[in-house]
Amino acid sequence: MSQLPEPQINIFKKSTPLLAKVLKNIQLTPEQGKCKRPKIEGSSSIHRIILSVDHDQYPYLVGQSAGVIPPGSDPKKVEKGSPDTAYTVRLYSIASPSLSFGMKKDTLEFIIKRDNVYDENGDILHSGVCSNYICDLKEGDTVTLTGPAGKKFLLPTTDFVGDIFFFATGTGIAPFYGMCEELLEQKLINHTGNVTVVYGAPYSDEIVLKDYFENLATKHKNFTFITAISREQSNPFDGGKMYISHRIRELNDKIVHALQNNGKFYICGGPKGMERGVLEEMMRLSGTSMTYEEFKKDLESKNQAFIETY
Ligand code: FAD
Ligand code: A2P
Repeated sequence: MSQLPEPQINIFKKSTPLLAKVLKNIQLTPEQGKCKRPKIEGSSSIHRIILSVDHDQYPYLVGQSAGVIPPGSDPKKVEKGSPDTAYTVRLYSIASPSLSFGMKKDTLEFIIKRDNVYDENGDILHSGVCSNYICDLKEGDTVTLTGPAGKKFLLPTTDFVGDIFFFATGTGIAPFYGMCEELLEQKLINHTGNVTVVYGAPYSDEIVLKDYFENLATKHKNFTFITAISREQSNPFDGGKMYISHRIRELNDKIVHALQNNGKFYICGGPKGMERGVLEEMMRLSGTSMTYEEFKKDLESKNQAFIETY
């Protein structure tokens, strides 16, 4: 029997949000000047945010998202004379396990990157409103949440036999942090099979939570952690950037085995185009004659593919 409830959605809405206190804000990437990314490419700042959230009030399952409402008025709405000038809700994947790290049902975590646009000199041209607001939060600050959101991007909640692949780019690693903890450490279900994380990022110091995943790999024989570092490594197939799709090609037989034996494939992160690259690689390995759309629909209908790209 599962210890987890059915997924619930939209308990807290924009008109009736939940206020949550910040317990910690930890920057996971090095400061500009101390990082691998050259200044001309801007900077990458990824934070782990831990909020105090009572799960009896805000029950969530890992894989769901939470909405954040940035404070203040949206200047575009003010300019238009809109009656409601509040910012729109931004969604963030919940990065903590369903019962939280520590299993006390008392926290909710995010992994968030400042979403800025940089000019040709690497100086900020545009700043993302909500991601910068969250990455600037201090311990004790209050955040306005909606949700939970989403019912599909979830782990099995009953015993499961089959391999599980987690494919992430950038902050797409967020839900897999909590999912790996729940599957491998907390063992909320009996799972028989291998678990593989394939995680792509531009630079090696933008692979966040590396120590956590490497430690899991030493503790659990059925767990493998693989990275694809696009701007530091080249792929052996055409010598271009190393993407997660190239790592999938290297996994070849393991992917085919999982496709044929009830395996599950979770895909999360951005850019949106990586979803197609990943699925096309899986299609090639499988030798299917289906079209891309048919292949994707087929895997989703069999509960083998779970996709959250943004
Ligand atoms: P916005 O203010 O909404 O701006 C969007 C982009 O436009 C930014 O890059 C900004 O720099 C740029 N911009 C602003 N003004 C201009 C302009 N005038 N011209 C051109 N560009 C401009 N993100 C995470 O970091 N972690 C997660 O776990 C995560 N999970 C997600 C889960 C889901 C289901 C979805 C849909 C999205 C998720 N996201 C996640 C993305 C997140 O929701 C936001 O989209 C992201 O943080 C950007 O929001 P923002 O308010 O910071 O940027
Ligand atoms: P790159 O930007 O070097 O082309 P982040 O969100 O932190 O920028 O990370 C996204 C990662 O996904 C980067 O390493 C990026 O590489 C990579 N990427 C970009 N396009 C694709 C794609 N089509 N398939 C797989 N990975 C991709």
